[in-house]
Amino acid sequence: MTDPTPDFLQATRSAYDTIARDYTAHVPDGLAENPLDVALLTAFAELVRANGPAPVADLGSGPGHVTARLHALGVPVFGIDLSPRMVALARAAHPGLRFHVGSMTRLDLPDRTLGGVLALYSTIHVPDDHLPTAFAEIHRTLMPGGQVLLGFQSGASGDEDRRTHLTERYGHEISLDFHWRTPETVCGLLAAAGLEPHARVLREPEAEPEAGRRLPRAFVLARKPGVA
Ligand SMILES: C[S@@+](CC[C@H](N)C(=O)[O-])C[C@H]1O[C@@H](n2cnc3c(N)ncnc32)[C@H](O)[C@@H]1O
Repeated sequence: MTDPTPDFLQATRSAYDTIARDYTAHVPDGLAENPLDVALLTAFAELVRANGPAPVADLGSGPGHVTARLHALGVPVFGIDLSPRMVALARAAHPGLRFHVGSMTRLDLPDRTLGGVLALYSTIHVPDDHLPTAFAEIHRTLMPGGQVLLGFQSGASGDEDRRTHLTERYGHEISLDFHWRTPETVCGLLAAAGLEPHARVLREPEAEPEAGRRLPRAFVLARKPGVA
């Protein structure tokens, strides 16, 4: 029996395959050198290392900049991305690290093997009706005590969650959906998947002239209950 890839995954993959080279050139580091973002990644690394040597999966690793940063913090980490072109660019830029093509909605990983999951600006491309599946996959693959760090553009507290559709980027015609969610929405979905949010940060945006928008950045830390 065939298992057709959902339309949203095909559209997202095609959009990122199209813009992979330009995205990599224009977004040299997903953390944009913001000291608060770097501090959160460093805290995440410390929490993961405290649990032992199990690896972290960077879901939606894109060009692999942040994967490499986490690796430099002493965490065994590999990347997974929907876009084969992104994966090819990440492998070329970081030959010492592993990157695989795949979707966070269906992880080709055994149960209870990850020490952590990082997902920066990638859950924004998963629609509401598929996000519980992605969070269930994170729960399934994490060891007890495993840590999660999510980063995403957010509506402010009390705002409605919103969807935006982009048809052009870097001069390329694309079809790409973005889902802006509040930290409250994301924490509620994590909790429903059995993951315990233990910190949330909402910071003001920096200028993003090429995107023409200024949305707050949200970060949520969560853990899978239990002891490693
Ligand atoms: C905005 S980029 C962020 C890249 C990187 N995390 C960073 O912060 O620079 C989003 C990435 O998520 C990937 N992505 C989107 N949906 C995904 C999914 N369902 N599973 C895995 N990767 C996905 C895209 O292909 C793209 O490379």
